[in-house]
Amino acid sequence: MNDKGIERVVTVGSALEVHFAESKKITFESCWLRDHCRCVSCYHANTFQRAKHLLEIPEATIVKVEYDKNQLIVKWSDEHESAYKSDFLSQFDYKTWKESRRLKPILWRGQKVNEKITKIHVDEFLKSVEGQRSVFQSLLDYGVALIEGVKPSLEATEIVCKALGGVQHTIFGGMWQFTTKAVHADTAYTNLPLAVHNDNTYFTEAAGLQILHCIEHTSGIGGETILVDGFYGANCLKEDHPEDFEFLTMFDVEAEYIEEGHHHTFAAPVIQIDKKTQDLKQIRFNVYDRSAMAFSSNEECKLYYRSLRNLSRYYEDPLSQWQFKLTPGTVMVMDNFRVLHGRTGFSGTRVLCGSYVARSDWLDRARSLKLIQ
Ligand SMILES: [Fe+2]
Ligand SMILES: [Zn+2]
Repeated sequence: MNDKGIERVVTVGSALEVHFAESKKITFESCWLRDHCRCVSCYHANTFQRAKHLLEIPEATIVKVEYDKNQLIVKWSDEHESAYKSDFLSQFDYKTWKESRRLKPILWRGQKVNEKITKIHVDEFLKSVEGQRSVFQSLLDYGVALIEGVKPSLEATEIVCKALGGVQHTIFGGMWQFTTKAVHADTAYTNLPLAVHNDNTYFTEAAGLQILHCIEHTSGIGGETILVDGFYGANCLKEDHPEDFEFLTMFDVEAEYIEEGHHHTFAAPVIQIDKKTQDLKQIRFNVYDRSAMAFSSNEECKLYYRSLRNLSRYYEDPLSQWQFKLTPGTVMVMDNFRVLHGRTGFSGTRVLCGSYVARSDWLDRARSLKLIQ
């Protein structure tokens, strides 16, 4: 039985108002209807692609409408005929459509998230759909997941990275491994403490996931990982300092990365929000990689410092942070669009390996697992 069946169709100007069961009503403009014709000459059902260029679609008018519970048939002034299943049409109620595409992150503050996130054995992650769903759900909900029982080697870590969506290649390589021997001109390649930050604010698109595996830490102490929910801090700023929040969603902060033979630079707001929903979309917060820059006014300059400092206070608050020691065998996965990471200073030999995964690639996995639309 089709419970979203068509009950009535009314012509309103150039549009059709389609009434479904349960008093649901959706209005379709004729240009939309013609563009969404699913006949074989308009749509390749096998590749899910439109067959016609936008400029080839005739601006024809509707001359006749027929319908029953299951479908709507439109006859056009150029004698084309389109049929639409009611299940197809009923998806396009704007409110439901918009809502179904929202990600619903669960904001967190401090240590307690440790009890909420997915911690899973690598075999369960690699070999079962439930295991994969659990890891990606944890990334969608909290922006963090831990995969345990991984052999402390680059090769074993790479298998995990591939299953998370595939290794993303950057100037730092694909899979990378580092100690304090600096192969890149970056603070990460030292043993100094690192305040929490997002990576790659200087790339046109920052890495989606950051994957870290501490494969060795001997004859020394420290080197604890620090994570903070960037969305939680941004929300606090919105409540306590709305003007600062507003500024950070509008103002393009410049960032750069320079080493021999490379010069990356990009400018964008620190807090990115979705235009339709106002949901938080991305945090680009890195105090180290900010470039020197000019301001249009003294006011703008002062606002830049005030708002960034106010946001920093949430991120640097120990009560916001989750601090823990990563040990060989545990691969940490985090959403670089949301969660900030840092570390305490350390001594001894510490070897880390890991990679990035592009956001498009991990969301593709999550979508294929039917976790998001
Ligand atoms: Fe980093
Ligand atoms: Zn057609």
